[in-house]
Amino acid sequence: MRLPELITDPAAWQARCLEDRDAGARIALVPTMGFLHEGHLSLMRAARQRIDAYETRGQRGPRLALASVFVNPTQFGPGEDLSRYPRDLEGDLAKCAAAGIDRVLAPADPAAVFSPAHETWVSVEKVSQGLCGASRPGHFRGVATVVAKLFNLTRPHLAFFGEKDFQQLAVIRAMARDLAFGVEVVGMPIVREPDGLALSSRNAYLSPDERARALALSRALFAARDAVRRGERDGEALRRGARERLAAAGARVDYVEIVDPVSLAPVARAAPGSVMLAAAFFGSTRLIDNLALP
Ligand code: PAJ
Repeated sequence: MRLPELITDPAAWQARCLEDRDAGARIALVPTMGFLHEGHLSLMRAARQRIDAYETRGQRGPRLALASVFVNPTQFGPGEDLSRYPRDLEGDLAKCAAAGIDRVLAPADPAAVFSPAHETWVSVEKVSQGLCGASRPGHFRGVATVVAKLFNLTRPHLAFFGEKDFQQLAVIRAMARDLAFGVEVVGMPIVREPDGLALSSRNAYLSPDERARALALSRALFAARDAVRRGERDGEALRRGARERLAAAGARVDYVEIVDPVSLAPVARAAPGSVMLAAAFFGSTRLIDNLALP
């Protein structure tokens, strides 16, 4: 299989994407931090399909499915896992090829993306508060800024993000709307292991024992969904049940919340469409997951 073209210089990437757009290209972008798994690949395959079918209005320019692989330093807090975040660019390129990606931006030097002079930040105010925003101050500012930069470097028509990072998706939707990026943000469902654990690059940190205990995270959410199906609506009771399951598995709970899917504001009672989100530490590894309640 032919590997996608690899571009390591953001300026060269931007020049290529602008040329493509001038030639009438339609562009889909899948931003990632690499160490790709089926979750990422599901976004890439969707990007390939959606851009190939993209509304043409008679025009037949190239259809490009592009991806970026960049471990963005600005979204990691002090003491977080930036220095040991798993990387495998060679493997990632082969996986991108199999998923139909045409070209990959993988900046060789983080300073080519965030120079020492960088001082402009995108901060999405309300939806960044609470949940992961409360325990990871500055995280969503780093995410929104790098995604804004990737949008400007690439000028995509479509951009794909996973519901696995539910709050991140809400932050990016708000940013794209508020700053008129002219990008359609497409959210894709969570891809899970057969036993229910949501795929994540960070699962690579888990010891076999932690991997077994980490199942409690998805199980707690599924149990809450079952409880709602049986008629339980009380948010406090649902959250307590999930916390107890996590504690029983030896996890340190960061948060368990039930929120409105658009505003991410906590709700006291589960309503159709409410989403339960949870974050918990298994050993030193922090995992997140979420599930829509029926
Ligand atoms: P990363 O964690 O590499 O994830 C890249 C994309 O893959 C995100 O949109 C994420 O939600 C999606 N994804 C991860 N696991 C998934 C799963 N199990 N099922 C479906 N989608 C999944 O998220 C980031 O990188 C970064 O914050 C980024 C947006 C690239 C900005 O730096």
